[in-house]
Amino acid sequence: MAEALRIGIAGLGTVGASVARVLSAKAAELTRQCGRPITVSAVSARDRNRDRGVDLGAAQWFDDPVALAKSADIDVFVELIGGDDGPALACVKAALEAGHHVVTANKALLAKHGVALAEIAERKGVLLNYEAAVAGGIPIIKTMREAMAGNTVSRVLGILNGTCNYILTRMEAEGLSFDACLKDAQRLGYAEADPTFDIEGQDTAHKLAILTSLAFGCKISADSIYLEGISNISQADIRAAGELGYRIKLLGVAVQTETGIEQRVHPTMVPTSSVIAQVHGVTNAVAVETDILGELLLSGPGAGGNATASAVVGDIADIAKSRPGFQHGPVFGRPAKELKPYKKAQMRSHAGGYFIRLTVHDRVGVFAGVAKRMADNDISLESIVQHGSSAEGDGSKTVILVTHETTEAAVRKAVEGVTKDGHLMDKPQVIRIERAD
Ligand SMILES: NC(=O)c1ccc[n+]([C@@H]2O[C@H](COP(=O)([O-])OP(=O)(O)OC[C@H]3O[C@@H](n4cnc5c(N)ncnc54)[C@H](OP(=O)(O)O)[C@@H]3O)[C@@H](O)[C@H]2O)c1
Repeated sequence: MAEALRIGIAGLGTVGASVARVLSAKAAELTRQCGRPITVSAVSARDRNRDRGVDLGAAQWFDDPVALAKSADIDVFVELIGGDDGPALACVKAALEAGHHVVTANKALLAKHGVALAEIAERKGVLLNYEAAVAGGIPIIKTMREAMAGNTVSRVLGILNGTCNYILTRMEAEGLSFDACLKDAQRLGYAEADPTFDIEGQDTAHKLAILTSLAFGCKISADSIYLEGISNISQADIRAAGELGYRIKLLGVAVQTETGIEQRVHPTMVPTSSVIAQVHGVTNAVAVETDILGELLLSGPGAGGNATASAVVGDIADIAKSRPGFQHGPVFGRPAKELKPYKKAQMRSHAGGYFIRLTVHDRVGVFAGVAKRMADNDISLESIVQHGSSAEGDGSKTVILVTHETTEAAVRKAVEGVTKDGHLMDKPQVIRIERAD
């Protein structure tokens, strides 16, 4: 039997402790599958005395994760601390420079430093595996990096944040407010005490940035992503979407256009009949469109200790199975030095359908005024519906418009015009519609 693969794990929280438990519980099966044992030979966390639900007595303890990363007694360094700088960056860099393979679940780190870290890994001839960083347990990285070789991707989109999908699913199914669903998500452990990062879309953006690089062979550019979260989605939007045959999802979308690559994260209307609209609760999904394969959709658990550990252990097993001296494929599908600069398509040029919900004064001429602003901006309407006077008796009416394909610039200008005309009693709501089968 070949020598054991020695693992050092930094971070023994939700994911790290699950990884240690899976490696211990499935040791015999993994040995059979990989042709060699995998042993946890060193660990690091902040609190040495905390019970991690697994016996780590045989592993060497490190207070300093960077010292663990540099240790000559490990073959693979597994980073499960989190954060885009600080100890996570320091120890991943140190491990790669020391010639160790690295496995990480850290999307924030990769979104910010992924290309630089890939350059080190490729220079050192070691692997940097990160399956768990995007959509948790869904094997989307391997699928895009390995199984789709030769395909040219035109669009990648996904439901990449379980917290947001859970909130939107319950709002629709039970008619509850955003705030009530968020509170429940926090109570059930699906949302952090400070949920901003999830609900305002940054977490989705980090994952999308990684997928964009894999899809289009460009450098990661998380800062270029157009970002809108779900905190201003109301029951009025959810109900109107349902009446029109749509469901609202927080999507991350990257599309190759004639002027560059569009990367956007925003609440999106997808046809209720589409496959992605059937992805409910905390489940994640990623759809990829290519010239050879057509459209692929993978869906499954996007977070949680076990699902994420499944992806991390898969990455470790790949390393255990690889042969010494074997030339590994590049981290982001193309050599890091050959990744193209990211060419951003301006959001104002985005073309698509739009849902616009306006709360207007209930008076003569408003409906015609709204329609005129749309026509003046060459926006052709699929439907325009005026709902009767509001039950609150506040003199308001709701106008709901669905446009045919138009541009973001035209919609912004038309809505600005309606606002300037003094017709609005509340902030206008604009939600993009995404084509989906
Ligand atoms: N949770 C998920 O469902 C999930 C899903 C996909 C990806 N991820 C990613 O996986 C990573 C870990 O997430 P998590 O949820 O497991 O986080 P977590 O539960 O907060 O665990 C973080 C761990 O890092 C340790 N740590 C913090 N600072 C440290 C330092 N300076 N030196 C050594 N150890 C340190 C903590 O030690 P103590 O335990 O002693 O405090 C803890 O064990 C993150 O990058 C996250 O984005 C998580």
